[in-house]
Amino acid sequence: MAKDHSRMEDSNTSGNPSIHEVSDPHRRTLLQGAGWAAFAALLQPLTACVSLPPGAPRGIGFQGIPAGFGDTLVVPPGYVAQVIAPWGEPIGVPARMPAFRFDASNSAEDQAVQMGMHHDGLEFFAINGSSTHGLIALNHEYTDDGLLHPDGFRPMNADKVRKSQNAHGLSVYEVRWVGQRWEMVRPSRWARRVTLSTPFQVTGPAAGHPLMRTQADPDGRSVLGTLNNCASSQTPWGTYLSGEENWMNYFGGGSQISAHHRRWGMREKSAYGWDAHDTRFDATQNPNEPNRFGWVVELDPHDPDSTPIKRTALGRAAHEGAWVALTRDQRAVVYSGEDARFEYIYKFVSRDAMRDGGARANRELLDHGTLYVARFDADGTGRWLPLVHGVGPLTVANGFADQGEVLIKARQASDLLGATKMDRPEWLAIDKGSRWVYCTLTNNSARGEDKQPGVDAANPRANNVMGQIIRWKEEGDFDGLGMVWNHLLLAGDPENSRVDARGNIQGDIFACPDGVCFGPNGLLWIQTDAHATQMYKGEMARLGNNQMLACDTRTGEVRRFLTGPTNCEITGATFTPDGRHLFISVQHPGETPSDRSDPSQPQRYSNWPDFRSDGRPRSANVVIRRLDGGIIGS
Ligand code: FEO
Ligand code: CA
Ligand code: CA
Ligand code: CA
Repeated sequence: MAKDHSRMEDSNTSGNPSIHEVSDPHRRTLLQGAGWAAFAALLQPLTACVSLPPGAPRGIGFQGIPAGFGDTLVVPPGYVAQVIAPWGEPIGVPARMPAFRFDASNSAEDQAVQMGMHHDGLEFFAINGSSTHGLIALNHEYTDDGLLHPDGFRPMNADKVRKSQNAHGLSVYEVRWVGQRWEMVRPSRWARRVTLSTPFQVTGPAAGHPLMRTQADPDGRSVLGTLNNCASSQTPWGTYLSGEENWMNYFGGGSQISAHHRRWGMREKSAYGWDAHDTRFDATQNPNEPNRFGWVVELDPHDPDSTPIKRTALGRAAHEGAWVALTRDQRAVVYSGEDARFEYIYKFVSRDAMRDGGARANRELLDHGTLYVARFDADGTGRWLPLVHGVGPLTVANGFADQGEVLIKARQASDLLGATKMDRPEWLAIDKGSRWVYCTLTNNSARGEDKQPGVDAANPRANNVMGQIIRWKEEGDFDGLGMVWNHLLLAGDPENSRVDARGNIQGDIFACPDGVCFGPNGLLWIQTDAHATQMYKGEMARLGNNQMLACDTRTGEVRRFLTGPTNCEITGATFTPDGRHLFISVQHPGETPSDRSDPSQPQRYSNWPDFRSDGRPRSANVVIRRLDGGIIGS
């Protein structure tokens, strides 16, 4: 449902015209401009000689595998994969551990203490530095109500809405390596579900803002729940960051949708049917409730009693996720993007430096600082434009009463600033050694359509069904306001009959990059999310099922590491501190072209991972290791 954003979201066609001119849209590198000449010279050739942290990387060491076409998960020779914590498994809350029922008859109350649906970004939090004992914190992006209830989505009712709400949110579960396999530790004092009923504190400049106040929360500082959480990251101070992505799909705006909500893609009715049974999601009755979603949320998984926080200083967006780099003087720089067609890439620079003392000592670090939006210029340089009230066009006269309103309406502010409209920014990854920042731009089939922005230097293909990976390096430190940028690669099958769908990958081919992260050996891991409908069109014929690949960014080589079951997405990657175990998420195996399963045929496309005759496909985590116990990927 939340997956094929190209069909679920409005496109940003408003505001600034494209300022970008492209002479050669397929060039990999373009660095010009006198002011940048010296800096640029240091960086070329861009794939050849980045400086690397001690001990890493050493190139790709596994045997690549062919594209996958079966309802199975495949890893390279010498590796083994184990499924853990599928949807519906009891999370391990001591008071209650109801078993999963394969006919989907678990109640909403059961679901509130079971693993949520549609696993996405996840992070391993070591307990006492261990690589064999830790906590997994993860997101449950959305629900397929065709699988969630015995009789599917129609008719929706209040009980089903509550079960769907309880299948969203976050999970924390405890894991331990017990000889030859990983096990969920149950019961566990850390086990926790965060759902649409969990109180969140709102902090930062938009906390308490009139646009954040509702009848249920007249102070505008406390929100129930989080939803459509997609990517994840771990902060240097030991907390979990998660993005609230396609929150607009949960609200119904009625026939008179405000210009503000329309700019964020709200439609007359909720795609999930919540608005008809929970007035909180009826924006005609609660017009400010949508403003309370779209934030980066922070959770301390080590403290099961902690209140999670919505960090408004990082701006409101269809946040895929958020990733932290530290400046040399220890200030936090938080990169984020919003996965929607023609939307933006952001970074926040904290006012204060990170302190010793973990989560507690850094409770306010992300509440004070400056938010910027990216402009990628055609000469291979770029600028970070401040979203600061009173600076440039962000004035009362232009509809921004104060800094809180700038943050709540970050899209509108970015339109006015002339930021670059991107091809759906998904995950980001920060190479701490070379200091390059990578971002996947998954696809944008609307680029270049009538009335839509045309191609530009950073987004060089019209009807972009394959996606690309862009990267940049800041001038000076991570807080620099200038950058140089280029493309790591343009994804796609080089034998595709459409010229614009051909890629320039060196090695194994893929489409629609989504998850991306650096592993312990310095390899860049890339995960894909090409939608079933694209596969049926034939454009993905040789690419097979969604997959995970490793890239040696020094050479550009890409090698296929894992292929998933039918119509799944591979997303989220986290390593144990020793680099010997890799946890990922397999999301929506068996997804249907219409995004919602037929309850009478739950196994139509996949029956992974249980393969029971009375079962149904389940999203799950998978943990991968080498049979010889070595470092993953090397
Ligand atoms: Fe939830 Fe942008 O993927
Ligand atoms: Ca997804
Ligand atoms: Ca994603
Ligand atoms: Ca995606």
